[in-house]
This record gives sequence, C-alpha cells and structure tokens, in this order.
Amino acid sequence: MIILGIESSCDETAAAVVEDGRKVLSSVIASQVEEHKLYGGVVPEIASRRHSEAIAGVVRQALADSGKPLSQIDAVAVTYAPGLIGALLVGVNFAKGLALSAGLPLIPVHHLRGHIASNYLTSPELEPPFLCLVVSGGHSHIIEVKSYTQLRVLGKTRDDAAGEAFDKAARAMGIPYPGGVEMDRIAEAGNDRAYQLPRPRVDGAPLDFSFSGLKTAVINLLHNAGQKGTEVNLPDLCASYRRAVVDCLTENFLKAAEQTGTQKLVAAGGVSANRLLRRNLQELCAKSGRKLYVPELSLCGDNAAMIASQGYYEYLAGNTAGMELNACAQRSI
Ligand code: KG4
Ligand code: ZN
Repeated sequence: MIILGIESSCDETAAAVVEDGRKVLSSVIASQVEEHKLYGGVVPEIASRRHSEAIAGVVRQALADSGKPLSQIDAVAVTYAPGLIGALLVGVNFAKGLALSAGLPLIPVHHLRGHIASNYLTSPELEPPFLCLVVSGGHSHIIEVKSYTQLRVLGKTRDDAAGEAFDKAARAMGIPYPGGVEMDRIAEAGNDRAYQLPRPRVDGAPLDFSFSGLKTAVINLLHNAGQKGTEVNLPDLCASYRRAVVDCLTENFLKAAEQTGTQKLVAAGGVSANRLLRRNLQELCAKSGRKLYVPELSLCGDNAAMIASQGYYEYLAGNTAGMELNACAQRSI
C-alpha cells in the first residue's frame, strides 16, 4: 500500500511517499527555521502563511521523487493534532482536498504517534509492544506502545517539554533558536560537572517530568554571574545543563522500564537526536540487557515519512476520516 503523508504541525512543511509503512520512497521537508530564528522562536502566524505557500510544491516534489504519480497513491495521511492550529489546518485542508478530488481514503495521524513511527522506518524488525520516550519541542512523554494503535501515557512533563527546556536555556545563554541542537554541539567540549544544577522531581508522580525549575536555575545563574561580573564558561554550562536534562529523562524512562518489565526501549522526537541522550540510553540498555531503538538522525525531527508510516497502521486499524476532519491544537495520544 502506497501512502502519501503530509505534515505541517509546526515550522516544517513536509510530504513523503511510503510503501507499506516501512519503506520511504520519497521525503521532502521545507523548513522555515531561518525565518523564525529572527524572532527567537516560531511565530504561529508566519508559520501558517509559509505552509500555505509551500505545501503544493512540497507535495508535488514528494510525488515526483517517489516515481509514483497520484494515480498510484492508495491513501493520504495527514497530521491533524497536536500543534499550531493555523499550521495544522493548512495540511489538513490540503489533504482533504487531495483525497476528495482523487477519491482516496483520508487518514488522520497524531503527530506523536508519527514520531514513534520514525522507528518503524529506521528499524524494520521493530514491532510493538515497547516503551517509548517521545521528546520534542512541544512534548516529553513516556508511552507504553501496546500495539501500533493502542498507546498509554505513563508519564509526561508538567510544564516545559525537553526541547523547549533546551531552547529556552540556550536563548538565555545567547545561543540562537533552535538552541537545543547548538547547545548539544557546544556541550561536547565542556565539563558536565562544572555547574551544580537541580534534578527536579514531581511529588507523587515519579514518571512525570518538570523542567521549568531547571531552566530558571540557569537563568538565575547567568543573572548572578552578570551582576558579580564573573565569567561563565559556555561549554561547561551547556554540558552541565544538558546532563541535568538527560539525567531526568533517562532516570524516569528506566523507572518506567523496570515498572513495566519492558525489554524494548525506543526513543523518538527532535530531542532523540541529542548525543548525550543517545549515548546514555545505549549504556543503560547495554548494562540492563535491554534493546534500544533510536530513529536515524534525519528522521528525529519533523518529517512526513513518519506520518505516512503511522498512517499505514491507522488505516489497517480502520482509522480513517471523512470530509468533516478538523485539526486540533491539543489532543492526547
Ligand atoms: O520533533 P521536533 O522536530 O518538533 C516538535 O515536534 O516539537 O523537535 C524539535 C525540538 C527543538 O526544541 C530542538 O531544539 C530539539 O528538538 N532538538 C534537540 C536536538 N536536536 C533537536 N535538542 C537537543 N539536542 C539535539 N541534538
Ligand atoms: Zn515533532
């Protein structure tokens, strides 16, 4: 089954063609990041407008690159939630128009389910059940993936997402948006024990995360250094901060694995590209005899191949939609 996937939930307009949920025939991503960088973060209104301008060309390119004309496409899968509402609506409405005019089934896909599916593209042997740490700019979840379409949230962030925590702290350090990527690079040269930072925990919810206090600790540290006129060592601060965030993520993920007795651990989302997170999860799995799956780097961030992949499994489960499909800014997995 050949599925065309469409993704427009944040600042990437993407389209891809995927065969049977596992084989990427094409994947096109038009990123708006350079424009949003000017404002230090994604400006929703600008994002929607750029999606409107880019989407037809991106879809056309994905079809051309795949070697499959529209007549050979079997269904259209689209991210309908969660994300920026104006941005999502562009993808949803384009997909509805295309499905209606070509007489194809329309498959709504949850963005986080898509991120998880990036692992089906990277690791052909991976099948549920498994435990997944989904860490992106907007979400930090520990999810029990019971089957391709039955998922249960075991833990989540109470405030900032992991990617947001990286981006906001990076901004305070003067690193341009999206700072998580650059902070990861700078941290490689730093001493991760140079600065003492907290490891926030949520009382009574051991699998939940809280990153806002950690971010505030860095902002206070920078403020105090500024007032005293003391020099801050950027690589050391990046390394200490990165370790604090990654410690919180891996500690709770391990707790969830022990609690559920899961042997297959999976990471997904933009932050799963983080070098330290990948190294630490690898180490943790090697020590405990568990198997680790991470998406290849090109599939960690937002893309439409992951949406087409999950779309295949949603279709097999009968999860299609009609022309009444709407976009939702917030929707649990
Ligand atoms: O999944 P994604 O592309 O978009 C959302 O669905 O949010 O994730 C983007 C987030 C950004 O916050 C970005 O800073 C972060 O992922 N990110 C990283 C790294 N690469 C991307 N954070 C830490 N280390 C990285 N290497
Ligand atoms: Zn995402």
